Amino acid sequence: MTSVGTFRVCEPGGIPFREAFAEAIALPSVLATMLRSLIEAWPDDVYSQPLVTTRFLGSRTTYVCDPRHIHSLLVDHAGALERESFMLRALGPALGSGILTADGSHWRGQRRTSAPMFRPDRVRGFVPVIAQAAQDTRERWLREGSAFGERDILPEMMRTTFDVIVATMVSGDSQLKVEPFGRAIDTYLGQTTWKIALGMLNAPDWTPHPGARAGAAAARYLRSEVARTVARRRERGEPGTDLLGLLLQAQDPETGQALSDESLVDNLLTFVAAGHETTALALTWTLRMLAEHPQIEQRVLAEISGLDQDPAVDPDAADRLAYTRQVVLEVLRLYPPAPLIVRRATADIRLGDRIVRAGESVHVPIYAVHRHELLWNRPQMFDPDRFAPGAAASRDRYAFLPFGAGPRVCIGMGLALTECLVILATLLPAFRFVPAKAEMPPSQFRVTLRPKGGMPMKIVPRHAL
Ligand code: HEM
Repeated sequence: MTSVGTFRVCEPGGIPFREAFAEAIALPSVLATMLRSLIEAWPDDVYSQPLVTTRFLGSRTTYVCDPRHIHSLLVDHAGALERESFMLRALGPALGSGILTADGSHWRGQRRTSAPMFRPDRVRGFVPVIAQAAQDTRERWLREGSAFGERDILPEMMRTTFDVIVATMVSGDSQLKVEPFGRAIDTYLGQTTWKIALGMLNAPDWTPHPGARAGAAAARYLRSEVARTVARRRERGEPGTDLLGLLLQAQDPETGQALSDESLVDNLLTFVAAGHETTALALTWTLRMLAEHPQIEQRVLAEISGLDQDPAVDPDAADRLAYTRQVVLEVLRLYPPAPLIVRRATADIRLGDRIVRAGESVHVPIYAVHRHELLWNRPQMFDPDRFAPGAAASRDRYAFLPFGAGPRVCIGMGLALTECLVILATLLPAFRFVPAKAEMPPSQFRVTLRPKGGMPMKIVPRHAL
């Protein structure tokens, strides 16, 4: 057994008592690392080996880093996987049993119901709404003018993507308020690291932890706000053609019954939460990376200025931003907003020379796959040309999976990419973003991948330069 990272890499077979004892002694420091950022607790081998199996406190976890094995796991063996109990423990109190957290036929029905909202033609139809949200942000920043100093870009981007999600998924008729909603999501996610760490260490569900009470209150607030949105729509008397409308008209294929109110809230909250924070993170990391790389920023600006029409009136604008898209993809490689896929095997699964036994945990550490020595040349370097058409075609599709893969691939992928491009095309020509600190903030696992301490930047109108 070799010791790398926080968890120990193991070979199949038993572990000596001496090492079990050492694990128990190491427990507090393992917990501290996991709470700081789960990614730091991964074994170092996840950045250089195809498969890594660890054992800690008697539980085996296999990290799958080789694209062929990732395909085999998430596509070929998708039917032998379920949500991990510690992820459900973390997300369940807020998201219930919605599309992200459910399994089996319950998941399938919800996925089928929601799918029409995310078809490419529908997403193209959202472009004017996305452009409007970006323009509102631009106007707000310009209004604030010279008084406008340094601020955290992440909540700014969350506000913009929140407007998009509310406008597209609930037709903007909601009275959901971004600030309290965003604060509640922050509070909730903040304490999920405790729930995940305690769950991974097999501590019972009732184990008290810091932030538990505030987290529970935040979940209640989020659910009650969304329930009110559903109630307002019911009062209107017609379901509408947006996501909420689709959910309201959905029927259980087996029972023919409509979704329960609880299920409506589970799903709507899942879409609002999963749909805006991830995209805001992608935009936040992109603005910072462009500030670090002025030549790349110039190429992006040149491409945007070559658009013949404003994105607000051109649903195809995003298709014309090929280089900007490469930049966003390269940011998603280095800073994948959802950095980890976790599953539990429900049957034995063979991956190369390993067998993941039924009941064991299996992880696809997206963040590590995207920085893996065997898959990427100079993995730490920011180089959007990796996603130029020729270069991307010669790479295994499963070496790059910011949106996951297989039947549970992100349903909002097309919307997220279009959103990033349209928002960048609206904001970048108007402002320069100047980092408040020279060092890049470290990234931190909080279910999503967040910049530790936020992303403080100065937003300088270009006309003032
Ligand atoms: C840059 C932005 C985004 C990233 C990086 C991202 C990433 C991901 C990933 C990695 C998964 C798979 C998780 C797993 O397999 O366990 C996922 C699932 C999901 N995403 Fe996204 N996502 C983004 C934007 C969105 C948007 C805009 C929406 C909706 C409006 C959305 C809704 C969902 C939902 C509902 C699922 C669960 C799908 C299922 O289990 O069937 N995401 N996302």
